[in-house]
Amino acid sequence: MVDARPEVRPAPRLRVIFLGPPGAGKGTQAARLAAWGKVPRVSTGDMLREAIAAGTDLGRQVGPLMEKGSLVPDELLIGIIQERLLGKDCRNGYILDGFPRTLRQAQGFETMVGGDLTEEMLVFDVEVPRSELLRRLSGRRWCPTCQSTYHVDNKPPRADMLCDREGAQLIQREDDKEVAVARRLAEYDERTAPLIDYYRGRSRFFRVNGYRPPDAVFQELTRIAEGRA
Ligand code: AP5
Repeated sequence: MVDARPEVRPAPRLRVIFLGPPGAGKGTQAARLAAWGKVPRVSTGDMLREAIAAGTDLGRQVGPLMEKGSLVPDELLIGIIQERLLGKDCRNGYILDGFPRTLRQAQGFETMVGGDLTEEMLVFDVEVPRSELLRRLSGRRWCPTCQSTYHVDNKPPRADMLCDREGAQLIQREDDKEVAVARRLAEYDERTAPLIDYYRGRSRFFRVNGYRPPDAVFQELTRIAEGRA
C-alpha cells in the first residue's frame, strides 16, 4: 500500500564553524551569516567577555588569560558550548565563531553532537595576510556594552569613538594591544591551524579569501551555504 501522506522533511539546518586567525573577520562574517540564515551566532569570545563584565567566577578565571592573549582551558570551553547548544534557538542551526580552536575542542564537539558531521557542517577557513591582520587588530575599536566592532579606518563609528547603537564610549580590547596580539597569533599557529587539516578531511571545508571587502566575502559565504559554489 502506498503511503499518501506528504513526506515530512526536517527543516534545513545551517551549521557553520569559522576557522581563521585573530582579525580575519570571523566575527564580522559570522554575525551577517547568522542574520541571513536566521540562526544564532555563538561567539565564545563574546560569551567570555560577557562573563568578565558580569564579574562571574568564570569571568574571574578567564580574564587574566584572555587579557594576555592565551587560550582558555579546553574543558571550560567544551562545557560552555555544550550548554549553549542545548538552547532552543540552536535547534535549526548555529554559527560557531571562535570554537573549536584546538584539536581537543574539535573532538569534544563531535562527541557532543554525536558524529563527525561530514555531510552537514560547513567549515569556513578565512585567510588573510598577516600584515593585514595586524592592521585590522590595531585599528579595531569595540563597544563594551553591545560588543559591536568598528575599525578606525575601515568602519569608523558615526560619532567620534561612540557606538552607533549604544552611544557608549568605544575602547580598544586589551588583547588587541601589541604584546597580546603576538601571543594570540602564536597560539593560533600552534594550536588552531592544525584544525585546517583535521577538517579538510572530514567536513564540507571551504577556504575563503578574507582579504577583500566584507560584502565580497559575505557573498561567497552565502553562495556556498546555498550550494551554489
Ligand atoms: P575571540 O573574541 O574569538 O577573538 P579572535 O579569534 O582572536 O578573533 P577576533 O575577534 O580578534 O577577530 P575576528 O576574526 O572575529 O575579526 P573581526 O570580525 O572582529 O577570542 C578572544 C579570546 O577569547 C582568545 O584569545 C581566548 O583567550 C579566548 N577564547 C575564545 N574562544 C576560545 C576557545 N574556543 N578556546 C580557548 N580560548 C578561547 O574583525 C577584526 C577587525 O577587522 C574589525 O575592526 C573589523 O571591522 C575589521 N574587518 C573585518 N572584516 C574586514 C574586511 N573584510 N576588510 C577590512 N576590515 C575588516
